[in-house]
Amino acid sequence: MPDALRERLVALRRDLHQNPELSFAEHRTGDVLVRELEELSPSRLDRVARTGVIARIAGRERGAPVVAIRGDIDALPIQEATGLAFASTNAGVMHACGHDVHATWAVGAAALLSNAPAAGDVLIVLQPAEEIGEGAAAVMESGQLDDVRAIFGAHVDRRFTVGQVVAQAGPLAASADVFEIVLTGRGAHGARPHESADPIVCMAAVISALQTIVSRRVNPATPAVVTIGMVNAGTASNVIPERAELRGTLRATDHDTRALLQAEVREISTHIAAAHHVQAAVTFSAGVPPVINDARAARWASDAAAELLGAASVVPLGITNMAGEDFAWYQRQIPGCFLRVGAREHDELVIPAHSPQFDVSEEAIFVGAAVLAECARRASAELAAERK
Ligand code: NI
Repeated sequence: MPDALRERLVALRRDLHQNPELSFAEHRTGDVLVRELEELSPSRLDRVARTGVIARIAGRERGAPVVAIRGDIDALPIQEATGLAFASTNAGVMHACGHDVHATWAVGAAALLSNAPAAGDVLIVLQPAEEIGEGAAAVMESGQLDDVRAIFGAHVDRRFTVGQVVAQAGPLAASADVFEIVLTGRGAHGARPHESADPIVCMAAVISALQTIVSRRVNPATPAVVTIGMVNAGTASNVIPERAELRGTLRATDHDTRALLQAEVREISTHIAAAHHVQAAVTFSAGVPPVINDARAARWASDAAAELLGAASVVPLGITNMAGEDFAWYQRQIPGCFLRVGAREHDELVIPAHSPQFDVSEEAIFVGAAVLAECARRASAELAAERK
């Protein structure tokens, strides 16, 4: 990659890092990205999904299949504590998940593809609102990706060193669904529990029983999480309330386990509640599906990384990431591969994403840009050849 492009990308990343914006509020970010992409003279440049941007980089062959590269652009409600010279100037908001880098490497891939085009056009999708799991779905609803035949995206990962890339078929990130259980009993004086149907004692039993889903219902070789993160009940120490509520998150890496978790949450909570003479109302807000990489797209991605970085640089994911990633919405309709790009220097600590100390090696920008551009070229070439 030429030095001038490197310098431009580092400057862009630092500017985005210093001016982070929350999901669907990426107004300045969108404007900055539009300006950067205008310089590449894309054949189209559109706003999408309120605060997102899509640039179309022309391919060599008119009418050849279109592929896409996605970079997410939003930040998190976290007060930055990195001490970086270009730390956030937006109080309480921080690029603590590396989406500043993802936006930048997508622009870098656009620059590389402008210089050495793919067979077909490549859409550079700068997607808002990944952190709330809504941006990708909004981009898909726009219809602008309707003719896309393959899609690639990546996340920085400090578990891996710079130059290492994960590009493999199968599950890469988990589904994330929210559940809410409202337990309605009968309130009473705390001194006369026999006159109540106590939703708090019921809630305690429900919480314990839900732990048996992962330990006794899910195949132990299959990753799954049931976490209750919110409980709410009661107004005074001597009052048995009428209602208790709890909320949690469900994670799975395959569709069957995801369905099983939901069915079991409903089954267990309604029956435990019935045993306590309490009514349980169970609701789910369907979140992101699991990220499951398509085998062929993963081959294009691992071949791209191996060519650019050497075969030894393509490393296995290892333990499955149970976080959610809304790239999964694209993969429901478009074969795609989501990569992990190493972002830690050898001697550095592993600082997890969403930490106020999170920072990444800027070399990762160049790796991400080059690998994603090459993913697009390979997919495009093979899809174009098939057409003939
Ligand atoms: Ni992220």
